[in-house]
Amino acid sequence: MRIGADYYPEHWEKERWKTDFELMNQAHIKVVRIGEFTWSLYEPVEGKFDFSWMDEALDALHEYGIKVVLCTPSATPPKWMIDRYPDILQRDIYGRAKLSGTRKHYCFNSSVYRKKCHILNTKIAERYGHHPAVEAWQVDNELGWSNTTRCYCDECQDKFRFWLKQKYKTIDRLNEKYGTVVWSQIYNGFDEVNIPRAGACYESCHDTQGQNPGLLLDYYRFCSDSVVDFTKETCEDIRAYSSYPISTNMLDAAVNSGTGINYFDLSEKLDFATWDNYIEFQWGVAEDATVSRDHALIRSYKKKPFWVMEQQAGACGWSKMGPTPTPGKLRLWTYSAVANGADTVVYFRWRTALFGLEQYWHGILNHDGKPGRRYEEISQIGREMELLNQTVGTLMPKARVAIIKSFDSEWSHSIHRHVENFQYDNYELSFYRAFYRLGIAVDFISEKEDMSGYDLVFAPALIMADTETVESLSAYVKNGGSLLLTFRSGIKDEFNAMLPETVPGVFAELAGIQVNDYDPQMEKQTTSSGVFGEAKSTLWCDIIEETTARPLGVYTSDFYAGKSCMTVNEYGNGEVYYLGCDLDDDAMLRLAE
Ligand code: GLA
Ligand code: ZN
Repeated sequence: MRIGADYYPEHWEKERWKTDFELMNQAHIKVVRIGEFTWSLYEPVEGKFDFSWMDEALDALHEYGIKVVLCTPSATPPKWMIDRYPDILQRDIYGRAKLSGTRKHYCFNSSVYRKKCHILNTKIAERYGHHPAVEAWQVDNELGWSNTTRCYCDECQDKFRFWLKQKYKTIDRLNEKYGTVVWSQIYNGFDEVNIPRAGACYESCHDTQGQNPGLLLDYYRFCSDSVVDFTKETCEDIRAYSSYPISTNMLDAAVNSGTGINYFDLSEKLDFATWDNYIEFQWGVAEDATVSRDHALIRSYKKKPFWVMEQQAGACGWSKMGPTPTPGKLRLWTYSAVANGADTVVYFRWRTALFGLEQYWHGILNHDGKPGRRYEEISQIGREMELLNQTVGTLMPKARVAIIKSFDSEWSHSIHRHVENFQYDNYELSFYRAFYRLGIAVDFISEKEDMSGYDLVFAPALIMADTETVESLSAYVKNGGSLLLTFRSGIKDEFNAMLPETVPGVFAELAGIQVNDYDPQMEKQTTSSGVFGEAKSTLWCDIIEETTARPLGVYTSDFYAGKSCMTVNEYGNGEVYYLGCDLDDDAMLRLAE
């Protein structure tokens, strides 16, 4: 375990570097991440490259024994490129180009941009692939940040049509699976399929866009695949010249919400997982359980120790700031990371910028560059991490409880929310939070992962499960596992269409129940009583009828008072719980107990 800092050598006079590196050494900062927004320095005009500034920075860092995570600079294409090749710009859902001046405004599918990235990334990898200061790579920066995973340009439309053709082979199959007979949508060829830009109903219903739900879900999958493919190509460019491990800094689900990238797929391309952790800033204050949940998610994508690539080091925000971290908080946040399996925590940023948009995003040092209160606390953490590293090493929690995180289900729920306030991620969090309160580690797993190592698996609102998933869940239970299913599970096919079976669809046999009636809790709530004590539901109530299961809880209000809200079914050597309603936090805690 060790600490690091995000550093921008290009923002400071070279004369200052020495002071910075000495201060870093004194604070036990072992690693810096650099270079993620520097394309216009590497290639100031098209085809003319300059590496001298990076050569100097790397050599200087090496002199002080500071290791480097070197980034590919694709997050910010230079202005000359945008002017010469305007089609590399992303288009928003209304079809408007995302203009220059900010970042992440390129399209992942732009062949021109991909080629430009390939040329520069290859040169960087070739030049620094064996540099003794470099120890790892970061691809781009925060892929999908600020709603940039889904692009609506013409090139994306072409590529999406090709993607559909590969998937469905014939247009008739697509018509059948999407149910295009509804609203006269039947296509005669793949060339007729448009990407789901903002249409007639977009203003009145952002979730569904008034669009075909099969088309939307496929588009979300395609966009995620596009980001993953972009990452894969960058990794290949690097690996051609370097064997240093590769990562990319992922985003949290707590404050920034989902990126629309399937992080399990993305992580397959990477050697290690990292993420950016801001806890109290302009855009919100994260609950401790959500921060821990995010660490657990990142650990889970590779089931390996991970890094925090950016961790809050001061008061931060763009136009307005959140509070300064009170004494002890930087330390607390670091321990929360390492207790969850982080082996490196890198603080954003070393010194607060004097210019540019992020002048108020405070780093370890203030604008004046003098070591102060936060620097002292970081130095203490640095010492402690060194000590911990020598004694216990990385703390990788061994979880016996797992929660299935399904990106397909998440995206399907984002299109059809089922009821006001239902949010897949929050619902998952309600399970995590209960175990967090008990101090019990939880892993997240994809629905395709091996579950045999876990005593207890939760599958909250797993709305779609293919045959393979149903079989692996059944096998897990048969072999003695305990599985908990919930309302809104197993009722759709992978094309985002409803199944004709009675709820809970493909899980009816496993759960040993039938649901013939349900009650979305809009502007109402229902009470219940069971193994979880007395509870309140504010989202959803399935009115359960047992076939082979037995009840563990009943509703105590509304017209279904006395009917089951929770059941358990013996299945093979294990058991399947079915929770037909949401529970308040305290009832969730008692359920977890
Ligand atoms: C993100 C980015 C950084 C920086 C910080 C602060 O996490 O990765 O480049 O912009 O936020 O805003
Ligand atoms: Zn595009």
